[in-house]
Amino acid sequence: MLNWSISGKTKLCGVIGDPIEHSMSPVMYNAAFIELRLNYIYVPFKVRKEDLSKAIEGVRALNIKGLNVTIPHKIAVTQFLDELDPLAENIGAVNTIVNNDGILKGYNTDALGFLQTLLEKGIELKGEKVVILGAGGASRAISFLLAQRGANLLILNRTLDKAKECADRVSNVFQREVKALALNRQNLIRALKEADILVNTTNVGMSPNTETTLVTSDLIKPHLIVFDIVYNPIKTKLLMEADKAGAQTISGAEMLVWQGALAFEKWTTLKAPIELMRKKVINELERREN
Ligand code: ATR
Repeated sequence: MLNWSISGKTKLCGVIGDPIEHSMSPVMYNAAFIELRLNYIYVPFKVRKEDLSKAIEGVRALNIKGLNVTIPHKIAVTQFLDELDPLAENIGAVNTIVNNDGILKGYNTDALGFLQTLLEKGIELKGEKVVILGAGGASRAISFLLAQRGANLLILNRTLDKAKECADRVSNVFQREVKALALNRQNLIRALKEADILVNTTNVGMSPNTETTLVTSDLIKPHLIVFDIVYNPIKTKLLMEADKAGAQTISGAEMLVWQGALAFEKWTTLKAPIELMRKKVINELERREN
């Protein structure tokens, strides 16, 4: 039940992406707006790649207050904004936009959301060997953050050129080596022998393709920390394989909540009700899985 009514003063926020039908964000943010009795509403917008610039013009024309940006627009959207926060600029990807009287500013809360998730669990990053699967927008944010925190990185991607581009970007900023290799079984075996942390930033394993994983239990050592940024389902096939190997697992649902809380704070300038957002996300994911 809504405890506010839509009026002439209602502020509109939303998410653009494709596909968008399974987004958890409307449930998470609307619950937070209701909790704090804010006259805001959050809706999903399915925006195709070729319509991105028109969609951003629409944000200005309709005076939409805030947006989240998801697959496949996180990198492409940067060219249509008026300003970029320095972190988003360095990363080269945006997942949150704030509209300040017609000036659209892009932020990246994926990076800090990822960091908060690890900090909350007391996981140290300095000197750790981290293998990152994927080289898209989410990978850029995570690899930047990890390099900033002093981790040693190896990026594996299906398209090698994109892995190299992602690695070069990070190593140019931090003046440290970031390795990039093609994502194949031989490279995975070699990389995981040494690794302390594995992060999947690809959408492999995401609903409805829940039976797929890039890494199986035979490649996972018990001391490995396995972080899958896919949150739908909560327990992805990769995380089940990690469980089987006795490794520590972290679900993308945790990062979803943290990046969402940080975006909420940008739009409203209020502290996000993070525990409520977490509860809503978990309940909704469990409801969908049953
Ligand atoms: P996001 O912005 O969420 O990171 P993205 O920019 O579309 O999304 O990136 C998706 C990533 O998942 C890419 O690294 C992609 O690999 P390619 O660069 O080769 O396209 C990776 N990916 C998607 N489907 C994959 C699959 N079936 N196997 C391996 N990697 C896959």
